[in-house]
Amino acid sequence: MAETNEIALQVKDLKKHFGGIKAVDGCSFDLPKGKISGLIGPNGSGKTTIFNLMTGVLGADSGEVVYRGENIVNLRPYQVFNKGISRTFQITRIYREMTVFENMLSASSMRVPESEAREQAEKLMEFVTLTPLRGEYGGNLSYGQQKLLEFARALMTDPEIILLDEPAAGVNRTLLQNLLAHIHHLQEEEGKTILIIEHDMNVIMNHCEKIFVMDYGVKIAEGLPDEIQNNEYVIEAYFGHK
Ligand SMILES: Nc1ncnc2c1ncn2[C@@H]1O[C@H](COP(=O)(O)OP(=O)(O)OP(=O)(O)O)[C@@H](O)[C@H]1O
Ligand SMILES: [Mg+2]
Repeated sequence: MAETNEIALQVKDLKKHFGGIKAVDGCSFDLPKGKISGLIGPNGSGKTTIFNLMTGVLGADSGEVVYRGENIVNLRPYQVFNKGISRTFQITRIYREMTVFENMLSASSMRVPESEAREQAEKLMEFVTLTPLRGEYGGNLSYGQQKLLEFARALMTDPEIILLDEPAAGVNRTLLQNLLAHIHHLQEEEGKTILIIEHDMNVIMNHCEKIFVMDYGVKIAEGLPDEIQNNEYVIEAYFGHK
């Protein structure tokens, strides 16, 4: 298990604009290693854009994402993925024309023998209760099932850092509890670093050790759940404006 104050990844002064919109406007934070952290903020505050900049889905205007001593910003998504950073998408990106099982295998690394990948896929499908749907096309799954499939698929390569963009949205409560239990298992037993974007405050406050809060593209607060709940800037961001 990681030492308590180790840093898995650093976001340094990231900036990204879309036309006149400064989606990320100089955001920095240190992601604690081997812990579950949360990234919260009002709609449009730049959370998903941060994930996109961290995973090479978008290029940055400026700033760095430092992982294992290397600036990984502006790498291609597959390069970031191969370095051990895996993610899910807010709007799922599973293959609609492939089966559940094929979707799982699509994320397996070339370095892993096929038999091992199949075994891993079976295990993960079982965990997210998708085994009965293994032959179903991705496009026929419900939104919640697609989220579960994407979560399971993100674990196929045994990543070191797992970024989850709204994993709870559309997932039923029972399954959500299983999902959270699995996230804790990944952290506690396997020492993974996890960052969760989520609007469900129960998920954030009860399951994240450290929380980062964004508003208008910048980090306005960070701290423990208790500190965040009582932070005046956070309360203002959520209830004060507009
Ligand atoms: N590809 C894009 N092109 C143009 N504008 C974009 C693009 N992606 C994001 N934006 C804009 O950047 C801002 C930040 O969006 P982002 O999706 O990062 O917010 P978010 O915090 O994830 O919001 P939500 O909680 O609603 O998912 C928004 O104003 C959004 O409209
Ligand atoms: Mg988002």
